[in-house]
Amino acid sequence: MPFFNREEDIRRLKAVLSGEPNLVYFVYGPINSGKTALLMKVAEDLEESGNVIVFYINFRGRNVETIDDLIRVLFRVKRGKVSEDTKEFIREVLKGGAKILHKLKGIPIPENMFDLLFRRADKVEDIFAYLEEYFEEVREEGYQPVFILDEMQTIKGVINATGRMVIERLFNFMIRLTKEKHLCHSLCATSDCLFIEDVYSNARLEGRAEYILIDDLEKNKAFEIYEAFGFEDKLLVWDYIGGKIGDMVRLFEKKKQGYNEREALEGLLEDTINKLRDFLEAIEEGEKGKVDIKEVKEALVQVSHGEIFSGKIRRKVRHFLVEENILFYNPVRGIVRPQSKLLYKAIVELLK
Ligand SMILES: Nc1ncnc2c1ncn2[C@@H]1O[C@H](COP(=O)(O)OP(=O)(O)O)[C@@H](O)[C@H]1O
Ligand SMILES: [Mg+2]
Repeated sequence: MPFFNREEDIRRLKAVLSGEPNLVYFVYGPINSGKTALLMKVAEDLEESGNVIVFYINFRGRNVETIDDLIRVLFRVKRGKVSEDTKEFIREVLKGGAKILHKLKGIPIPENMFDLLFRRADKVEDIFAYLEEYFEEVREEGYQPVFILDEMQTIKGVINATGRMVIERLFNFMIRLTKEKHLCHSLCATSDCLFIEDVYSNARLEGRAEYILIDDLEKNKAFEIYEAFGFEDKLLVWDYIGGKIGDMVRLFEKKKQGYNEREALEGLLEDTINKLRDFLEAIEEGEKGKVDIKEVKEALVQVSHGEIFSGKIRRKVRHFLVEENILFYNPVRGIVRPQSKLLYKAIVELLK
């Protein structure tokens, strides 16, 4: 599939990543708005251009609950004949150039060093010490390192030996890489922005972080993509899925299976309604979240008319709905709204 549109977002991200690293960037936006695809595209373009090496880690679906899980996700073990000296090891790895590294995804680490991490008492500090040394070496070799963490809210439950949130330490590390040492660009992508705010105050990100919104597309941009996908009744499609690129892909796939456009859209909506119904039932039966179903329903009715100030929903319920990816929270504007147009419709359908 071709990569559509997004020239302005691409330009913005490239501008950020080609200057000196000064701030931590949060790339935020609703689910399926194209954050991951955009970051991958920018990463590839930058690496094509030569002197940038991107370390991209996606926590999605990785189930990181402990520090040992985190170590497994962050690193890629290089076995066999590799140097045990960190500097030498990194130099060996870099001989392959940026392209090789990108394919590796995780951060390369010699086997012995990796095994050692699991045995250390203060693993968290060792992880960051290794990463910093790694990025320094990358710079020494003439490359600009870029560190991208995707869906990083999934590790918010991980704590270190003294019971502190590892993610807080991670933010401080990113501040060190950017604001203090200007060593490495640091980007975090997420569709759950409440967690950023939670950690924000603790890690004192103020003045050290910047937000980049990757939202669903505006109507005219969306229509261009509808055209490319061969959608016929653009107004109808807009009514159901709006500018959400992920849903456009789903519609395209359904049509490929032979459904006509209206059927396919109805199918997507039905799917969303069923999921929402199950979700509400699970709350009702006490299987999900310790929140009051009445309050949840009231909150959903409130957002069914459009975005609202987040303070209009009680904190506990708001947190729950954002965490469960029902609501999208924009921390810059302080508003919440349903994650998608399909969800808007589903809410109206179920709660009318
Ligand atoms: N600009 C684009 N052109 C074509 N397909 C895209 C584009 N952006 C996203 N997609 C597709 O839409 C879906 C959702 O995008 P994704 O990047 O996973 O969203 P997010 O990370 O915001 O949840 C994926 O299947 C992705 O391949
Ligand atoms: Mg993503």
